[in-house]
Parts: sequence; structure tokens; C-alpha cells
Amino acid sequence: MDNLLVLFVSFLLFSSIYAKNDCPEVSICGDNPFQIRFPFGLESPQNQHCTYNPGFNLKCNNQGKAILNLPGAGYFHVRDINYLTQRIQLYDPYNCLPERLTKFELHSSSVFKPVYYRDYIFLTCSTDTLNPYLNVIGCMSNSTISTLATSYLGIASSTILSSYNCKVTSTASLPVSWTRNEEGAFSSRLNNDLVLTWPETDSSKAKKIFRLVALSLVIPALMCSLVLTCYICYKQSQEAAALPNTSVGGAAVVPRPEMIIGLDDSMIESYAKVVLGESRRIPGPNHGICPICLAEYHPKETVRCIPDCEHCFHAECIDEWLKIKGTCPVCRSNPSPIHLNFS
Ligand SMILES: *[C@@H]1O[C@H](CO)[C@@H](O)[C@H](O)[C@H]1NC(C)=O
Repeated sequence: MDNLLVLFVSFLLFSSIYAKNDCPEVSICGDNPFQIRFPFGLESPQNQHCTYNPGFNLKCNNQGKAILNLPGAGYFHVRDINYLTQRIQLYDPYNCLPERLTKFELHSSSVFKPVYYRDYIFLTCSTDTLNPYLNVIGCMSNSTISTLATSYLGIASSTILSSYNCKVTSTASLPVSWTRNEEGAFSSRLNNDLVLTWPETDSSKAKKIFRLVALSLVIPALMCSLVLTCYICYKQSQEAAALPNTSVGGAAVVPRPEMIIGLDDSMIESYAKVVLGESRRIPGPNHGICPICLAEYHPKETVRCIPDCEHCFHAECIDEWLKIKGTCPVCRSNPSPIHLNFS
């Protein structure tokens, strides 16, 4: 019983960790290759009751795009989530991330932070006179005006500006995920995805540790109680097999070995047999009937009597009886082997 209790408690513990409400642990949006799981959660009409970490809730639109709302910066589509490096890769649904970056202002309440901030100068140049090999920001350029960006701030006072017929339009601190060495004079990387990180929250640390501890305790506990229960069941079944009919009304009865063991033929044959005469007179106390078959004795019938108690029966009746139960059916006395004649 104790083991069943342990099993039950373990099961409750286990299920409470893994089945918090019926909110999905892992979701997939559309045919995106990444999983949406802790600390993220996928909001949907089916799980409106589910609560996720503030700021980590994603939506999945009807085109199967995962959407993140960055406080202050607006909606972005999610390209990928790396849970190991804790980085989320975002892109602009209108395919002009640099333009959005120029106005990028992340609210301080946002859980996401850029890997780096870097200052950039934006230039607009005449498309005609511009060197065609320079990296222009395509979505901010047309046949007359080209837009370029550089983190080389000295350009503002350089002769390049006048030689390419360019002018500075704005300066901005942009969220980037690459080092200065990884970009050219005019950055084309701003066309790439926006990469943000999220801090390892205390709750995520605590949750990881809690899960680890719970797993390392609950699984062995489950296994132990299972093995123990099996062992006890096995033991009980073995004991039950060894002692049949020992339990009457829930109370254990001390077994009486004489009830189980019958007598062998030689012992039965050692008891006196009498063939009745016309008088039907038999030794010992009797009422003229065989107590086993309850039939009257008739002349010429063979009667056998048990030596100790002198109770007599039809020989064929008592012989069968004694083979099964080694006691007198009337007084239950145990025939003594003293009367055995081993000559
Ligand atoms: C090119 O873009 C500039 C500013 O973005 C705009 O003023 C101009 O009209 C555009 N020219 C064409 C041909 O679209």
C-alpha cells in the first residue's frame, strides 16, 4: 500500500511539472524550422488562458509567419531562434530593415537587447555619379538617389562626399550583431537580419535547476517504487501459492498440516478390517450407518475402523477419505502411527 502511495505521489509530482495546465510546451508556427518553447510562448485563440513570460509571446499569422512585437520598435517577423546562444533573428516584413533601423528605438521594458550598438552615418548620393561597386542600401535607393551607410564617422569631413556628390542625411545608433572588422567601408550588412539577445532570466535558471532536480529525483523514485511494488507482488503471490486457503474473512488461519496430508495405502491397510456377519455387529460406537455415505450397513460388507477412536466406516468409504485427509471424519482424531505394523 505504501508503495502505491509513493507511486501516486511521484506521478502527481511528475505530471505537475510536465503538464502545467494544458498549454503546449513546444509549438511550431507554419513551416518555420524553429521551435517556439520556453521562454517563448505562442499565443493562439486556443490557448488564451496560457500565460507566457512578458515580452516573449509570439503570434503566428495566417501566412505561417511568427511575429514578435518589440515594445517601441514595432512588429518583426522571426527568422530563427537559437536557444543555446539565446539569440533571436528578426526581419522586416516589408524588406527594408535599414530604414526601420534608422528609427529603431527599443523601449527599456523590452527583454531583448542588441548585441552591440554602433553609430552610423547615412548618406544620399546621386545615383548617376556613384561608383556602382559601392554597397548601396537597395530598398532606400532609386534611379536618381542612392542611400549608403557607414560606421566610418570621419567620412563626414572627407572629400569622398563631394567627389561622389553625396550629403549626410542622418546619424543613428543602430543595433548590430557584427564587429567593426566584419564590415566594409559602406555597410551592406544592415540589409541582414536584426539579431537580438535575451538575458538568462532568474526564473529560467531556477526552472532549469528545478527540472534537473525533479527529473533526477522523480525518475529514480518512480523506478524504485515500481521495482518494489513488483517485488512485493511477487513475494505475496509466492506466499499465496505456498499456503492456499489460509485466509478466511481476511483473518489469517494457522494451517493444520493434518488437513492437507492424506495417508498412504500401507498405513490405511494397517487399520483393522472387519467383514460384517448377519448380525451386522461392528466394533466401536456406531448407529448402524456409515457416517460417510450415510447408508446402513448390510451383512457381508467390509468395514474398517480407525484404531485410536474406534470409529468405523465402509472400507471403500474410509479408504478414499483417508487418502485425501488423514483424520477420522467423525472426531478428526489423527490416527497414530504406533498402530502401524512394519513387520
Ligand atoms: C527617389 O527617392 C527620392 C527620396 O527617397 C524621391 O524624392 C524621388 O522622387 C525618387 N525618384 C524616383 C524616380 O522614384
